[in-house]
Amino acid sequence: MNYAPNSVFDLNGRTALVTGASRGIGAAIAKGLAGAGAQVFVHGQTQASTASTIEAIHDMGHTAHGVVGDLSTPLMGQELIATCEAQAGKLDILVINASAQINAPLADLTDEDLSFQINVNLRSTIDMLRASLPLMSKRGWGRVVSIGSINQFGPKPVVTAYAATKAAQHNLIQSQAREYAQTGVTLNTLSPGLIDTDRNASKKVNEPEGWTAYLATANWMGRAGTVDEMVGAAVFLASEASSFMTGEVLTLSGGY
Ligand SMILES: NC(=O)c1ccc[n+]([C@@H]2O[C@H](COP(=O)([O-])OP(=O)(O)OC[C@H]3O[C@@H](n4cnc5c(N)ncnc54)[C@H](OP(=O)(O)O)[C@@H]3O)[C@@H](O)[C@H]2O)c1
Repeated sequence: MNYAPNSVFDLNGRTALVTGASRGIGAAIAKGLAGAGAQVFVHGQTQASTASTIEAIHDMGHTAHGVVGDLSTPLMGQELIATCEAQAGKLDILVINASAQINAPLADLTDEDLSFQINVNLRSTIDMLRASLPLMSKRGWGRVVSIGSINQFGPKPVVTAYAATKAAQHNLIQSQAREYAQTGVTLNTLSPGLIDTDRNASKKVNEPEGWTAYLATANWMGRAGTVDEMVGAAVFLASEASSFMTGEVLTLSGGY
């Protein structure tokens, strides 16, 4: 065992895919994994949307490539994994981060709204796990970091459908963690609380007073987290440092 702190978090030689890495939490995690030494596939819905994260990683002196796909399309998740495997020869780390969130009471959601959230959040997770886990297992090492939400255990009515997909996503992570537990592959969920990203921008910009009041009760710290505050936990879950942890949830909420 090498006890130097950098060695257990070192991702040199590892290849990672981060979905939804064009902005927000995914972009910060992609940069964090690259900073720890991984070659990173930056996913977004378009080539243009991936450009700024790729450029930031290149500016850091690390390697990044773009991969594109709309995850509401069934089997797109499998395609993404196949692209990374073909281009890099292996995929060691999968960060399932992209998600769709349509805020409305359940009765007001259209069938399209429901299918869209289920496909992006749940169906694509199943597709990516089915495509990546057998290969990681065959190679004897793999890390899956699934981005959940505090809504997966404390749902609010306005996010009912989104919260249900996050709870189901974690259930999948747990069952696959158990199935692959003796193969060197671990799967865990990182569940953020309120984080300052585009997802919350309209509330922050259009209702500043409501936003301030919301922050005061959102968590014990009374503020939104930053995307950079997600990076350390993601690198931990993606590295050797978390080798005896699987099927668990790491919550980063500012106190909840
Ligand atoms: N922000 C929060 O307060 C918060 C709290 C708890 C959990 N989370 C979770 O954290 C993760 C990241 O959230 P965020 O706030 O950073 O998100 P965000 O800023 O809204 O960014 C969403 C990302 O997902 C991609 N994406 C959206 N729809 C997609 C689709 N149909 N197919 C493929 N990619 C798609 C986007 O790609 P393009 O840029 O190409 O559109 C973008 O990279 C999500 O899983 C979210 O549920 C966030």
